[in-house]
Amino acid sequence: MLLVGFLLGLWGAVTVLAQRLPPEFWRQPLAFQGEAPRAWTPVERSLKPEDCGACHADQLEAWRTSLHAKAFSPGLVGQLLTYGDEEAAACMQCHAPLAEQRQAFETARRNDQAHLPAGQGLAAAGNSCGGCHLRGHRRFGPPQRDTGAVGQSDPSGPHGGVMRVADFEKSEFCAGCHQFPQNQAVNGKPLENTVVEWRASPAARDGKTCQSCHMPDRKHLWRGVHDPDMVRSGLTPEFVALPDKVRFRLTSTGIGHAFPTYVTPKAIMNGVALDEAGKPLPGSEVSYVIQRRVESIDGDWVERSDTRLAPGQAATLEMSWPKSGAVQLWLEVHPDDFYDHDVYDGLLRDLPGASPAAKLIAEADHRAESSHFRLFETVLRRP
Ligand code: HEC
Ligand code: HEC
Ligand code: HEC
Ligand code: HEC
Ligand code: HEC
Repeated sequence: MLLVGFLLGLWGAVTVLAQRLPPEFWRQPLAFQGEAPRAWTPVERSLKPEDCGACHADQLEAWRTSLHAKAFSPGLVGQLLTYGDEEAAACMQCHAPLAEQRQAFETARRNDQAHLPAGQGLAAAGNSCGGCHLRGHRRFGPPQRDTGAVGQSDPSGPHGGVMRVADFEKSEFCAGCHQFPQNQAVNGKPLENTVVEWRASPAARDGKTCQSCHMPDRKHLWRGVHDPDMVRSGLTPEFVALPDKVRFRLTSTGIGHAFPTYVTPKAIMNGVALDEAGKPLPGSEVSYVIQRRVESIDGDWVERSDTRLAPGQAATLEMSWPKSGAVQLWLEVHPDDFYDHDVYDGLLRDLPGASPAAKLIAEADHRAESSHFRLFETVLRRP
C-alpha cells in the first residue's frame, strides 16, 4: 500500500512537472543553444524562422505579419547603435532574445553592417520562433492540439520531438516582455503593467488569457493597438442625439487590460461642428484624450496624467448643437504618439545628421507619424 501510494505520488509529481516550463526558461539573458544533435538535418538545427516554416508554414506566415517579426525595427536599431554592447543586450532581451541574435548583432556592428537588415543576420528576425520555443535546441510547445497531451513526445520524430507544457497557454508566458517588475513602478504602476491589469480584469475571471485574444485558435498574429480591426473589437461606441446636445460614449468592452495598456499610444475622442455645406467649422473642435502621459526628467519617470479606460470603463464627450444642427464624431488612435513626439524628436536633435543611426531614427519617426487611424466616424443631426 505504502509503495503504491509512493509511486502514485511520484507519478503525480512527474505529471505536474510535465505541465511546467523549467524555471530557467525565461531567465534572461538566454543561454546559447549549443551543438544540435549530429543526426539532425540542417533544417532541424537551424534557428531561422524560415527554416521552422519549412514544416510549420502556418505559424511562419502569420508570425511574419506580426510586430514580433518586426521587433528589430529602425527605431530600436537606431538607438542600439548609440549604446554599448551591454546596454544593447538589455534591449535585445525582448526585441531579439536569443544569445545567437546578440552575437549576430555584435558581429554586424564590428563589420559596420549593424544598420543594414541584410548585415544583421539572425538579429533581424526579432522576436522569432526560437525565442519562445527553443532552449538548448530542445523544442517546447503547448499541449497537443485535439488530444491535450502534455510531456515529451516521441524523441525519434523531427527535432527530437517536443516537450508539451500547459504554461504555454497561460498569460504569465508573456510576462517576461510585457510586464515590468513592481519595483520600477511610476505612481504605483510600472510603465508596462499588462499582466497585472489583466489579473484584475473580467476577462481573467472568465478564463480568457492573452493568448485567447491575441492568438485566437493559436494563430501567431499578435494584433494590438496598431491594428484598426483589433482596436475596434475591444471598444463599443454609443452616439446619442439629445434635444440640446450630442453625446459620444466609448466603453472598453473587449480588452483584457487598460485601453491602451502602454504609455506610448494615445487615443482621442473628437467632435467637430459641420457647416450648412457639411464642412468642418474651424475652431469648433472638442476632444477628450485617453492616455497615460509620462515624462522622463533627467532619467526619472513621472506620471502627468492617466485617463486610460479600465475594462468596463467608459469615457464621454458632449457637445451642444451648432446652428447647422450637424456634428461629426470619431475616435482617433495614435499607436506611436510617445515615440513620435518625445523619443524620436529628441534623438533627431542630438544625433549627427548623416549618421546611420540618424537615418534609421528618421525612418522610424516617419513610420510613427503615419501609423494613426480613425474609427467609428459618424455624422449626427439634431432630432
Ligand atoms: C523537418 C520538419 C520540421 C522542422 C524544420 C521544424 N519542425 Fe517543429 N515539428 C515538426 C513535427 C513533425 C512536429 C510534431 C512532433 C511530434 O508530434 O512529436 C513538430 C512539433 C513542433 C512543435 C509542437 C507542436 C505540436 O505538435 O504540439 C513546436 C512548438 C515546434 N515544432 C516548433 C518548431 C520550431 C520553433 C522550429 C524551428 C526552430 C521547428 N519546429 C522546426 C517538424 C519540424
Ligand atoms: C521588457 C521588455 C522590453 C525591453 C527590455 C525593451 N523593450 Fe522596447 N518594446 C517592448 C514592447 C513590449 C514594445 C511594444 C510596445 C507597444 O505595443 O507599442 C516595445 C516597443 C519599442 C519600440 C517601438 C516599436 C519599434 O520597434 O519601433 C522601440 C523603438 C523600442 N521598444 C526600443 C527599445 C529600446 C531602445 C530598448 C532598450 C533601451 C528597449 N526597447 C527595451 C518591450 C521591451
Ligand atoms: C512570442 C512567443 C512566440 C513566438 C515568437 C512564436 N511562438 Fe509558436 N507558440 C507560442 C505560444 C504561446 C503558443 C501556444 C498558443 C496557445 O496555446 O494558445 C504557440 C504554439 C505554436 C505551435 C503549436 C500550434 C498548434 O496549433 O498546436 C507551433 C507549431 C508553433 N507555435 C511554432 C512556431 C513557429 C514556427 C514560430 C516562428 C515562425 C513561432 N511558433 C513563434 C509562442 C510563440
Ligand atoms: C479580452 C481580450 C484581451 C485580452 C485577454 C488581452 N488583450 Fe491585449 N489587447 C486587446 C485588444 C482589443 C487590444 C487593442 C486595444 C488596445 O490597444 O488596448 C489589445 C492591445 C494590446 C497591446 C497593444 C499595446 C497597447 O498599448 O494597447 C499589447 C502589447 C497587448 N494587448 C498585450 C496583451 C497581453 C500581454 C495580455 C495578457 C496579459 C493581453 N494583451 C490580454 C485584447 C485583449
Ligand atoms: C521575448 C519577448 C516577448 C515575448 C515573450 C512576447 N512579446 Fe509581445 N512584443 C514584444 C515586443 C518587443 C513587441 C514590440 C515589437 C515592436 O513593435 O518593435 C511586442 C509586441 C506585441 C504586440 C503588438 C503590440 C502593438 O503595439 O500593437 C502584442 C499584441 C503582443 N506583443 C502580445 C504578446 C503576447 C500575447 C505574448 C505571449 C503569448 C507575447 N506578446 C510575448 C516582446 C515579446
